[in-house]
Amino acid sequence: MELEICLLPGDGIGPEVVREGVKVLKAVAQKFGHTLKLEEAFIGGAAIDKYGEPLPAETLKKCKECKAILLGAVGGPKWDNNPPELRPEKGLLAIRKELGLFANLRPVKLIPQLQESSVLRKDIVEKGIDLLVVRELTGGIYFGTPKGIFEEQGQLVGINTMRYTEAEVERIVRLAFELALKRKKKLTSVDKANVLEVSRLWRQVVEKVKVDYPEVEVEHLYVDNAAMQLVSRPYSFDVLVTGNLFGDILSDEAGVITGSLGTLPSASLGKEFGLYEPIHGSAPDIAGQDMANPIATIMSVAMLLEYSFNLSEEAGAIYRAVEQTLGFGYRTKDILRPGLKKVSCSQMGDFIAMQV
Ligand code: IPM
Ligand code: MN
Repeated sequence: MELEICLLPGDGIGPEVVREGVKVLKAVAQKFGHTLKLEEAFIGGAAIDKYGEPLPAETLKKCKECKAILLGAVGGPKWDNNPPELRPEKGLLAIRKELGLFANLRPVKLIPQLQESSVLRKDIVEKGIDLLVVRELTGGIYFGTPKGIFEEQGQLVGINTMRYTEAEVERIVRLAFELALKRKKKLTSVDKANVLEVSRLWRQVVEKVKVDYPEVEVEHLYVDNAAMQLVSRPYSFDVLVTGNLFGDILSDEAGVITGSLGTLPSASLGKEFGLYEPIHGSAPDIAGQDMANPIATIMSVAMLLEYSFNLSEEAGAIYRAVEQTLGFGYRTKDILRPGLKKVSCSQMGDFIAMQV
């Protein structure tokens, strides 16, 4: 089949890791007889430098012509002091909103070969970690109004608004229940219902929707407690559903317990489009040095094949190739352990592409 994909390499290590993702994508296409039609466009700081805005109309147009988008990362110190509308991050937030990508799926699975790289105690990690964070991505405090910095009685006040409609909550919660049905049938909903009204509504909607999924076991956790449970009993989670801000924070935490953020992929899905990106950032400190870990992006390519094109066999081939390569002892710097073989970003991509 023809796979039309738009590449948004972005900033920092983005271009390097996307290059390796494409390398593996090409290997898969060749092996399984697919043709690739790749577009490329600017986003984030790279787009600010070239077009004066983080999400140029041309980029959005190219993305809308494809079903699937592969993104590297956005951001960097160069643009840190820009006004809010001219920050690289704004490009990412805008594309999520414009394409209606309301569901951010972040699978956190311990790759057995990386067990020693986990920051957690061995007896905890040994029980296995295989959870899926489902984060609402186009609402909540990231987008609620009023927002801004205003002057009030002679002093400045900063305001953001955490806001969810019943329909927004129901849409993401239903998806999370559906995903739980295909997994271990356990759903943890995370909120701050002991303090926030918006969370009380969230919890109320989960309770309403759960009636339609009697096979799924539901647990509610306050976000502070969830942050703690994630490190003390990560093995007991299956699907975790939460709002935009809590999901942002918890997915980084969940991410790092498996070893390195450099290995975690994500999918942001809406009705029409899917955008796939590693959950790590642009890592400006190591950009351009060919030492980043491309595995998160390569696994994002696997998610892209699976979710946007329904090619689960092809996706499986990528996951296996990653495990095999790690099994041979090849490691980028972030996951290097004594006795293993250090490789560059591009070498890691070469090895994985070879195993596909
Ligand atoms: C993420 C990132 C983004 C977010 C930033 C870069 C806007 O941290 O994808 O998790 O906060 O959503
Ligand atoms: Mn984040």
